[in-house]
Amino acid sequence: MRIYSRILGTGSYLPARRLSNADLAAELAQQGVETSDDWIVERTGIRARHFAADEQGCSDLATEAARQALSAAGLAAQDIDLIIVATSTPDMVFPSVATMVQHKLGAAGCPAFDVQAVCSGFIYALTVADSMIQSGSAKRALVIGSEIFSRILDFKDRTTCVLFGDGAGAVVLEASDQPGILATDLHADGKYKDILCVPGHVNRGGILGDPVLKMDGQAVFKLAVGVLEDTARASLAKANLTDADIDWLIPHQANIRIMQSTAKKLKLGADKMVVTVDQHGNTSAASIPLALDTAVRDGRIQRGQTLMLEGVGGGFTWGSVLLRY
Ligand code: ACO
Repeated sequence: MRIYSRILGTGSYLPARRLSNADLAAELAQQGVETSDDWIVERTGIRARHFAADEQGCSDLATEAARQALSAAGLAAQDIDLIIVATSTPDMVFPSVATMVQHKLGAAGCPAFDVQAVCSGFIYALTVADSMIQSGSAKRALVIGSEIFSRILDFKDRTTCVLFGDGAGAVVLEASDQPGILATDLHADGKYKDILCVPGHVNRGGILGDPVLKMDGQAVFKLAVGVLEDTARASLAKANLTDADIDWLIPHQANIRIMQSTAKKLKLGADKMVVTVDQHGNTSAASIPLALDTAVRDGRIQRGQTLMLEGVGGGFTWGSVLLRY
């Protein structure tokens, strides 16, 4: 009998500090950087984002989301036998955020590690957890996407700093004979490294290179639209399903125009796509589990429905997870 990974519970966390576009525009204006609510809404669909407090680390956001997911699943931290965190903004170079989350939750012993695939990170992490559950090496996994992108933004670069926000989302997966994750599909192509990257890194006690996000927005846009359709179709084909079987599309929340274009290619109406980019901005690896938890908690997503989760991000990386909730 096939072993499936089933979502038992979801959770999320947004830092308290919320900035509308007008709030951000006013802060940027003080540094001589000009932007407007109209420009941001029209080009991206973003209306607000949350920024973490100075004393918060990625593991703090991740732990809050994990606690909610555990509570929704009716489990304690000790019931978990695998923790994976998807992030590009860890507290430290090492150890991993996952080990810090494990400690903050008061659990110890189970494997815990980070996955770094930028905005596709949660899709990668979910796929790894699913493989470990299917192989029998884990039974109950905590999979988290957590980011503090505000720490790697250049607030003098208006073409990037208006796009991102901070947050975390989490799911608890359990081995089950009931579906479950139906199909997964992962890809990467490292030749696109330079169109979206943070080139700076720790070197001999200092930072070598610019430690802020660099992006060629138009190149990213073109690439994202194509690969998101391809990966969704690949997962559907693996599960012998079609566009018409999707109840909810939960794409990486980067830009409403990329998301709408993907939904259109999959012949899905706007009412079948979960949108949180307007309120969260782009939270990278956290965006998909944040959107999932939002729609589970407001009652849109119901047990038995078919969900298409898909992401694309720096690397470039991209992929999808098709599941029965
Ligand atoms: N406020 C006001 N004006 C701005 C801003 C801003 N925040 N940013 C750029 N502009 C100006 C530019 O200076 C330019 O002015 P000019 O014509 O006088 O030179 C004008 O707006 C148009 O700039 P473009 O870069 O051509 O704008 P574009 O329509 O391409 O939109 C955007 C930029 C939103 C970044 C778009 O390219 C995009 O959505 N790309 C996808 C990138 C993305 O979503 N990245 C997220 C990370 S990647 C990921 O998650 C997969």
